[in-house]
Amino acid sequence: MSIFSSSTSAIPDTLEIPRHVAVIMDGNGRWAKKRFLPRVAGHKVGLETVRGMIRQSVDIGVEYLTLFAFSSENWRRPPEEVSFLMSLFTEALKKEVIKLHKSNVRFVMIGNKSDFNESLSHEITAAEILTASNTGLTLTIAANYGGRWDVLQAVNAMQKANPNMAGAFAEEHLNPYLSMHYAPEPDLFIRTGGEKRISNFLLWQLAYTELYFTDTLWPDFDDDAFKLAIQSYQQRERRFGRTSEQLANP
Ligand code: FPP
Repeated sequence: MSIFSSSTSAIPDTLEIPRHVAVIMDGNGRWAKKRFLPRVAGHKVGLETVRGMIRQSVDIGVEYLTLFAFSSENWRRPPEEVSFLMSLFTEALKKEVIKLHKSNVRFVMIGNKSDFNESLSHEITAAEILTASNTGLTLTIAANYGGRWDVLQAVNAMQKANPNMAGAFAEEHLNPYLSMHYAPEPDLFIRTGGEKRISNFLLWQLAYTELYFTDTLWPDFDDDAFKLAIQSYQQRERRFGRTSEQLANP
């Protein structure tokens, strides 16, 4: 079994910096509304928060940062907001990829890429190729992503690859086909903006992740807010089904 296959096999030390942080960046629209600005203004400022979080993750030694930028369901938003977001992603990639590369960041996009326009698809592929060998932070952007879609596409790919499989499939058969096969499961999940939901994010991988919810809106989620989330994580006792006594006397 690969070391990445399940966080239930080894107990990470919560006193440490979480290796993998996964984030639902919520509250951009409300942040803008409070200021009588159009919703898209919130997304623009939200991009600044993304920059800050990447910088801080590199500084403190987070190994994997995974950001939910656009869900499969977000296509239902007003068309002008969807098209603004697509342009924002494209421009952000064009502008930032060299800086990411210089910071030794590896960029990966997960989600169904087939629905993106040519220009965005091109920027995504170029960024992935350029940064593929980088060994610092792995930045994963989930876009046009849904946890159920991911599990289903993995099951289909697994069956296709093992047409003559006798007996039942096990977790380790599925893991290589999941979108985040290259990363350990998230240690810490953060959702800003007050809602307490997983919203079809990394359903399979969040099974044992520590969950952190905050009312802070994404554009206001600054360095101190991230530090608070990490401090909260460091106070948790991760048991993975075991008892506290077992943890005390391994
Ligand atoms: C959710 O807030 C936010 C989004 C669907 C878009 C997230 C995009 C960014 C933060 C900008 C750029 C990101 C990258 C990775 C390039 P919401 O609009 O649902 O807010 P609301 O709940 O207040 O309406």
